[in-house]
Amino acid sequence: MRYFLQFDHLSDSQIEALLRQTHDISRNLADSDYRELFAGRIVANLFYESSTRTRVSFEVAARRLGMDVVNISARESSIEKGETLRDTLETLAAIGAEVAVVRHPQSGALQEFSEDPVAGLQLINAGDGSGGHPSQALLDAAVLQAAFSELSEIRMVIAGDIKHSRVVASALSLLPRLGAKDIRLVGPEQLLPSIQPASVSLMTTDFDAALKGANVIMMLRVQRERLSALDVPAEAEYSRKWGLDSRRLALAEPDSVVLHPGPLNRGVEISNAVADGAQSLIRQQVAMGVPARMAIFSALLEDNN
Ligand code: CP
Repeated sequence: MRYFLQFDHLSDSQIEALLRQTHDISRNLADSDYRELFAGRIVANLFYESSTRTRVSFEVAARRLGMDVVNISARESSIEKGETLRDTLETLAAIGAEVAVVRHPQSGALQEFSEDPVAGLQLINAGDGSGGHPSQALLDAAVLQAAFSELSEIRMVIAGDIKHSRVVASALSLLPRLGAKDIRLVGPEQLLPSIQPASVSLMTTDFDAALKGANVIMMLRVQRERLSALDVPAEAEYSRKWGLDSRRLALAEPDSVVLHPGPLNRGVEISNAVADGAQSLIRQQVAMGVPARMAIFSALLEDNN
């Protein structure tokens, strides 16, 4: 595997291998042998946007593989002085980094590097604008595989800001390839795409109706900055129509599971009772971030020996 930028670049067998490896590592996470695998190899975490889960789990994943990690945030680096992404990546490669994990506010910011690579540097997309967040989709798929024997069994509702969500973009490019046939999108009209994506079975503003028969509900963070700009209903009304509380969760199948990529706006898109309840897999998602990202590093570096 050359880069981990988007699923369209990967074959089915590469995706299946990543998921197999994620589950394998997840079962053996305490195994100290992992620390020998890539000892002394350097990864740079380059974050132009804030992050908790993604940045920390990439760092923990790298350390568990014995790698040395450098963390660079835009605010504390020469990016502030106007350095381009390419110059920053060239600099990191010259210092000895073999992998750069990049989060960027601009959709497609890493695309040019798949055509014109930085010599010696592998790239991982850790979220690009509303373009994609493939490592999140990989860990979400692993969590769903652990909960369901086949992904063809899932009847999934994704609710919230569908239009601007990189999590949704990557989920829609991965889950159907793994067998998911029933994915429904819900949100305020202003936050739904203008055309229903081909891989989606239903797109609606009616959350209650979409929950009928659902066994997976993925809630998305309300991007508060968008509510006023897009004339989306204020938080209280948003929460009433598109928030997930216990009453609404009861409209789905009794054994349904709840996902949220985080960070959570408690009391807005998800109630405390649901976020912390027995059906929530939110902690499992965060925990799966480490083995999924160890699998990504392994696939990149094993091919680069
Ligand atoms: N899910 C996710 O990307 O969270 P962070 O923004 O905290 O990394």
